[in-house]
Amino acid sequence: MADPQSTATGPAAPGTVPFRPGLEGVPATQSAICDIDGLRGCLSYRGYPLEDLAAHSSFLETTYLLIWGELPTPDQLRHFEHEVQMHRRVSFRVRDMMKCFPSGGHPMDALQSSAASLGLFYSRRAIDDPQYIYGAVVRLLAKIPTMVAAFQLIRKGQDPIQPRDDLAYSANFLYMLTEREPDPLAAHILDVCLILHAEHSLNASTFSARVTASTLTDPYAVVASAVGTLAGPLHGGANEDVLSMLEAIGTPDRAEAFLDEAIAQKRKVMGFGHREYKVKDPRAVILQGLAERLFDEFGADEMYDVARRLEEVAAVRLGPKGIYPNVDFYSGLVYRKLGIPRDLFTPLFAIARVAGWLAHWREQLGANRIYRPTQIYTGRSGRHWRPLHDRSAAAAT
Ligand code: CMC
Repeated sequence: MADPQSTATGPAAPGTVPFRPGLEGVPATQSAICDIDGLRGCLSYRGYPLEDLAAHSSFLETTYLLIWGELPTPDQLRHFEHEVQMHRRVSFRVRDMMKCFPSGGHPMDALQSSAASLGLFYSRRAIDDPQYIYGAVVRLLAKIPTMVAAFQLIRKGQDPIQPRDDLAYSANFLYMLTEREPDPLAAHILDVCLILHAEHSLNASTFSARVTASTLTDPYAVVASAVGTLAGPLHGGANEDVLSMLEAIGTPDRAEAFLDEAIAQKRKVMGFGHREYKVKDPRAVILQGLAERLFDEFGADEMYDVARRLEEVAAVRLGPKGIYPNVDFYSGLVYRKLGIPRDLFTPLFAIARVAGWLAHWREQLGANRIYRPTQIYTGRSGRHWRPLHDRSAAAAT
């Protein structure tokens, strides 16, 4: 039986580790993939500042860096891009399976199911074989966007369209989604968004991926479990809620009253706050710049004025507690301008985060020990079973 004195962060029994809800501040792995300085608002992948990668790299190059630890040579990048391009198509069986999904279902649920189904098609589990690992990485990176785009068309009653081999990764995704070749600026900005979302240390979905990986199951199960975790509104799902929140506020002059009410009612303001950052999330800074570039090119979005006013008033009310805009605050405005439907915002996050999940999968396999933390039991003990006919509510206590 647990020590009844053990509370949320209260004193632990001698010799035991104190309980930390949400594992706050508890190191659960060692990792060389991504570093966050939450006080200065700095983020780096494999030692490279995010700002440099966003300005100069591509999503596939960054993915290579995350997974294999070094920037690719020109030959390595060409080969990797070619492999990903060659594996974009999904089997007609996967497409047929997706046609049976309810059209009103959430695309994250469709993605989780279809990602898991890849394990049926590629069932060999040779996780100590570098060729198998390379093949699985390529396949997941290549097919996840195709499956997201396929569900979008299928739920509208259309047949999915085939990927276009002459288009790069992000341009091809927009093409499969919208059935139009995208504007180069739109494709470039989407690619930068994917870089920004590719990795973020031991967040909930990555932790989920590592726990699943630690059982030595296949990488499709690893990614499917992470997709399910990302879907929640406290994690990747927040980007959808931000736009709904901005629309509910409606105009900049109503932002302050909205915030006061949210604080008074102890409601979370979506797109604000982060366990790691005590300043504005560096990804939000870059996304805001991308949003402005899009508005300059393709026309303004009045919700941007609402967002900026909300950020301004929140800096006064929430800033002293270290609560500032996170990655989800401006991403929805960018995606909306790119013509992406709202319930695809989180699947888009997943397309990017596959890179980080796979990097952690590989790292986990390199020094694996199954995750099996402990618990503090708070239930009862020493109870006696009674036959059904002998039970009443009073007797059960
Ligand atoms: N609005 C208002 N108050 C907040 C917010 C917010 N968005 N976030 C945290 N707080 C307050 C919270 O009420 C609490 O106050 P008090 O100590 O007075 O009770 C304090 O800050 C600590 O909050 P917490 O919920 O214990 O913090 P956490 O580290 O467990 O949660 C979080 C982090 C991101 C889940 C949380 O900030 C949140 O729910 N934000 C809104 C949802 C959101 O935008 N999620 C996206 C996260 S970033 C991308 C991703 O991970 O996918």
